[in-house]
Formats: sequence, C-alpha cells, structure tokens
Amino acid sequence: MSKIDVFISYRRDGNEETATRLKEYLEDHHYRVFLDREQRTDDYRKNYEKAIEEANDFIIIVTKNYFDKERLFKTPNPHDDDIRNEIRCALRKLQAEKHLPESEKTFKIHPLQVGFEVTLNKRDLPEDIHDIFNVNFIIPCHKDKLKESFHSDIKPHLISVPTTELETKASVYDPLYDDEEARLKVQADNALPSDNDVINRVYQLINKEKLHVLDVGSGPGYVTYTRFNDDRFRKVIGLDINEECIAKANQKYQNEKFSFHHCDIEAPDFEGRLKAIMKEHQLESFDLIFSSLVMHHLAKVSPNIPLAIMHEYLSDGGYIILRGSDDGADLCYPHDNILKEIIEMCYAIPTSSDRMNGRKLYTWLAKAGYEKIKCLSYMRDTSLRGMKQREGLFYERFSYRIRYFKKYLEKVHTKKAKEDYDKLTRLIAEMKLFFLDKSFWYTTYDFVAYAKKSREDEE
Ligand SMILES: C[S@@+](CC[C@H](N)C(=O)[O-])C[C@H]1O[C@@H](n2cnc3c(N)ncnc32)[C@H](O)[C@@H]1O
Repeated sequence: MSKIDVFISYRRDGNEETATRLKEYLEDHHYRVFLDREQRTDDYRKNYEKAIEEANDFIIIVTKNYFDKERLFKTPNPHDDDIRNEIRCALRKLQAEKHLPESEKTFKIHPLQVGFEVTLNKRDLPEDIHDIFNVNFIIPCHKDKLKESFHSDIKPHLISVPTTELETKASVYDPLYDDEEARLKVQADNALPSDNDVINRVYQLINKEKLHVLDVGSGPGYVTYTRFNDDRFRKVIGLDINEECIAKANQKYQNEKFSFHHCDIEAPDFEGRLKAIMKEHQLESFDLIFSSLVMHHLAKVSPNIPLAIMHEYLSDGGYIILRGSDDGADLCYPHDNILKEIIEMCYAIPTSSDRMNGRKLYTWLAKAGYEKIKCLSYMRDTSLRGMKQREGLFYERFSYRIRYFKKYLEKVHTKKAKEDYDKLTRLIAEMKLFFLDKSFWYTTYDFVAYAKKSREDEE
C-alpha cells in the first residue's frame, strides 16, 4: 500500500455515494485516499488499521446510522464493529499527539455532516469512543453541494499536503528545449489528417457559420495556425503557460484573427485570466475549444478541473476537441520486447508526462460536465510509408523520450540515473535502426475525443 493522506470512514449502508465522490475530489487534487471497499477478508482489518496509522486526516461521513447504537454496543469486543474500531484507532492516534502544540500535530479527525445535523448523546456511545465528543464537527453541507463544500469547508482544514506540492513534479515539459519545437512540427504534420477530420465533423455539428475558437496549450502556434486558418473561423485565441512560445506565436501569426496569450490553466486564477482575455477581445463565449497533447502535462490538478472551467465559457451547443496519445496502444513487430522496455522505462521516470493519456480523455470530459462524448482513434503505422516518413514517425514518437532521462539526470546526478540515461539512449538507437529495416512494422494511434455543451433546453 502506498502512503495514505486521507482516510474516509463511512457506513456502507449509510452514504457510500458521498464517500465515493469525496474520494474523487480529493484524488483530483492529488491527495492519496483510503476508502475501504474491500470484501471482509482476513487482511482487511489489518489493512485499514495500517491506513489509519499512516493517514494525516480522518474524515467521517456522518450519516444517521453512522453512530448506530445497536451496532456500536452490540458486541462486547470493540473490534467487532468496524466503525467503532476505526474511531478507536483514530482517537488513539489523536491522543498520542495531545500534548503537542497545534502546529506540530500530524493527525486530525473531521466528522463531516452531510445534509443534516446529528445530535449525539454520550450515553448513546460506548465509552471507548467518548472522546469523539471533543472533536469539532464540520458544518453540515448539502450532498449536491459537496464540491463547493470541499473547497470552502473541507480542504482548508486538512493537514495533508497534496502529493504534487510535496514532490514538485510540476510540469518539466519545455516545448522549446533542444529540438522539441522541430519535433512538434513533424508531429503536427503527421496528425493533420486526423485533426482535420474531427474539426470538419464538429463544424458540421455546430449550428453557426463563423466560429470563435480557443486553442488551449497552443505552443509555438503552428498547430493553431494550420488547423484554423480558413474562413470558417472568425477569431482564434491561443493560450500557453510558456511565455517564449507566446511571443514566438504572436510574432509569426498574430493578426486580426489570431492572437496568443500567456495563461496557466492549472493556476488558481485561471478563470479570472480567461475572462480578462475574453473581455480584451470582446468575446462572450467560444464555439469550439481545441487542445492537442496538453492535458497530460498538467501536474498540479487533474485535467477535469480546468476542463470544467472551460465548459463555463463554451457556447451552448458548442464543442470541445481533445487530442492525446497512449503508449499502451503502441505495437511493433519484431523487437516488441525492446518497445516494451522503452515504454516501461518512460512510465517509471518522474520527469515524464502522463504517457497513458489517450485512454483518459473520455473520463476527463465526462467528469468536467461535457455531454455526447465521442472517442475516435486514428492509426498511424509504417505501412505504405517511404523511408523518410518512417524516420519521421520514429523521430516523432521516440526522440523526445531521451529528454525525460536527460532532465532527470540534470536534477539528481546519481549513478543509477546515469545508467538509465545510457540504457535508454542505447535502446532508442536500436529502435532507430529497426525503423530503417523495411520488414519492421510499428504503429501508434492518435486518440481524439470530442464532446458537446448541451443547450439548457436539450435532453
Ligand atoms: C506537447 S505541447 C503541444 C503544443 C501544441 N498543442 C501541439 O499540438 O503541438 C504542450 C503544450 O502545453 C503547454 N502547457 C503545459 N502546461 C500548461 C498549463 N498549465 N497551462 C497552459 N499551457 C500548458 C506547454 O507549454 C506546451 O506548449
């Protein structure tokens, strides 16, 4: 079991839905959560006791039957009711830190009242959990407003720090590092047919002649320009966290129609920044939001968080298009063992982005409130490609991987990091030779999902 930040205690026949939703919100904000859904096996009790021991926050979903007198008192052995045992473990931990000043405490209990207030009476609880009366109960919140409550009432009380803040795994991706800009261009050209196909489909679905477009994570602007440079698009705004990219894109493409702005979509003020940019361009909403190969670089929040904010600024009946990729769908023959080894090494290195993002597009969009989500995949393989194109596919899909290891080595300088860097360099060099052999086959897929913001009167 990996380290746990937050333990959620709840009765399965109480409010499992709230517990599950709370777990999702916490995980979206990069907390590691223990929510027991296991069958009652021999190890089950040991597992949750260990999780409470590790956790910094113990959230109780208080429902009418959470402090169920019948069950709490039923057996003389306090281990027999799991809730009673969980509370006992948590109170024991709290007790151990009783004499520490507030600032040094590492554990807190947060009973959360969802939808109603519970009035407890000491005689309704067994003595070994009486100390729960000394804990502050969190204000009752409506179960449909759990998301708002999460930000205003729950998160500020937590002791745990989200993993991203601890590990500073903030996106290390730099679109202008080494020859990355040139690689992005090859990748953009390779994906042009699939992007055009989806943009054409979506254009047919939007009931408007001239569209306002937002390109999120527009990089140096090449993709933005090549996809939206025809008369169907009236205004095209690009956003990117990289200021140098924004300067380059504006220098090359800025005109009446195209304009690029610095904006971090993970920042707490993302919405304010977006509104200010829209005001500058006198835009009330966008008809089409496009984003290619960006969401998997986010390191501070889950993509569904900025995607939900974008949803607010999409016109009713407007569409979003996300393009991603997924190492899990890469195949080759022969030498599949080498491909597997490269992918596994890239998966394990902390400086890599989320290389398995294609499979997640649907879920991110669904969680962010989009509807009528359609997923597509476009196969791109070595068949019917000349040598130059085969090399182009290799360059697009493999060359940048060495950079993850180079960046890691620059950060940690360990012998192991150097060995890994050398090993990957060798494997990628081998892979390059395979691509030159005409009998070698490789395929990758572009994953694209498009989705709608329905009009209010629509089903
Ligand atoms: C792989 S590039 C893709 C660029 C372009 N969309 C394309 O397909 O060529 C990812 C882009 O996302 C940008 N990006 C990463 N994190 C971001 C954030 N938090 N806010 C805005 N842009 C971000 C990077 O700066 C980079 O330009």
